[in-house]
Amino acid sequence: MPDVATSVPEAPPIPFNRATVEGAEFEYMRAAVESGHMSSSGQFARRVGGELQRETGAQEVLLTTSCTAALELSAMLLDLQPGDTVIVPSFTFTTTALAFVRQGARILFCDVEPETLGLDPDHLRSLVDDTVRAVVPVHYAGVACDIDGIRKALTDWPDIAVVEDNAHGLYGRWNGHPLGSLGRFATLSFHETKNFGCGEGGALILNAEEDVDRARVLYDKGTNRRAFFLGQVDKYSWKDTGSSFGLADILAAYLWGQLEQRDAIQGKRRAVFERYQRALAPHAGDLGFRLPVVPTNCDPAYHMFYVLLPDRDTRDGVLSDLRTAGIQATFHYVPLHSSDAGRRFAAAPTDCPVSEDISGRLLRLPFFNSLSPSTANEWLRRSSGRSGRGRHDRAARRVHD
Ligand SMILES: Cc1ncc(COP(=O)(O)O)c(C=O)c1O
Repeated sequence: MPDVATSVPEAPPIPFNRATVEGAEFEYMRAAVESGHMSSSGQFARRVGGELQRETGAQEVLLTTSCTAALELSAMLLDLQPGDTVIVPSFTFTTTALAFVRQGARILFCDVEPETLGLDPDHLRSLVDDTVRAVVPVHYAGVACDIDGIRKALTDWPDIAVVEDNAHGLYGRWNGHPLGSLGRFATLSFHETKNFGCGEGGALILNAEEDVDRARVLYDKGTNRRAFFLGQVDKYSWKDTGSSFGLADILAAYLWGQLEQRDAIQGKRRAVFERYQRALAPHAGDLGFRLPVVPTNCDPAYHMFYVLLPDRDTRDGVLSDLRTAGIQATFHYVPLHSSDAGRRFAAAPTDCPVSEDISGRLLRLPFFNSLSPSTANEWLRRSSGRSGRGRHDRAARRVHD
């Protein structure tokens, strides 16, 4: 086995993510600067908003500084009161829950089902009561959760709002319907790690007409400035709560450069996903790992690629071997229901055994637009023969074969 000094890869490490310029991003940023309008609600925000509205059929789209900010805005629109609860998966990013906690809600953590890793409708049904104001499903990895099951669980609770946390799923579909069109609200992320990025950014999708006017006020520092620009009032002033949620047009310009290339970007990501699938599927049985499940009624958004290893020790061993080989694989999420803040902000303790199990076995592989076949071959070259510790290493090699 080579010693540590000689095992340092001579080429730079393969990053987990690499943001790439895909089209006219810089040209559009320059145009935003030269237009004299770099702040929010400019010409590029209109183009991005128009495209997102075309895709989702939304009543209105508000570009925000992050998906977190969009979740916070949706929480404000719910007018949460003391004693209100919001149901959130335990297996998700912190701000899926935090945004509602900031508005005073307590959280009921729901488990995920083991196939799509989306909200488990059976557990959801057991949690719903008359304190619940919203349910926040996450379309994990851009694959729709069991929307039929969730809707059935909520049949007797028509006033509970569904807020889709669609941070991963722009351009994904469920039964032909766009992700982001299925709840009262949906949120998107344009963080640099997402399919379409501008560093930090997000959007709130408003699918109910009756939310639009108030959302515009909360979005714009509590003022009716938008109504003023639409010629609906002759001056604008402070009307409501709110904050400064708007995405600067200089960032919307970058984002528009990305969205214009949506077909090319999604095509590249699909190719990376399918290559992983082809390479790994033949080894899944003998090495005991599982690939992502995409139900036949779902078109994935190709946000990420993960494998589920047989147990935590194997996952940690493979992760460490890949990192030694210069391949920055990673894992997530630490289940929220068992975190310090999750326990503090929970309305009541809940059991989420699937979230705990998945969290210990999931391994995310490098995934980005420019991840070419030659890069994948380079991984193989770097890691093969690196060590021979049996099962862990065989899995590590095959993961990037
Ligand atoms: C499911 C989910 N929701 C929300 C977020 C927060 O997104 P942002 O960084 O744009 O605030 C993330 C971030 O990765 C996420 O994975």
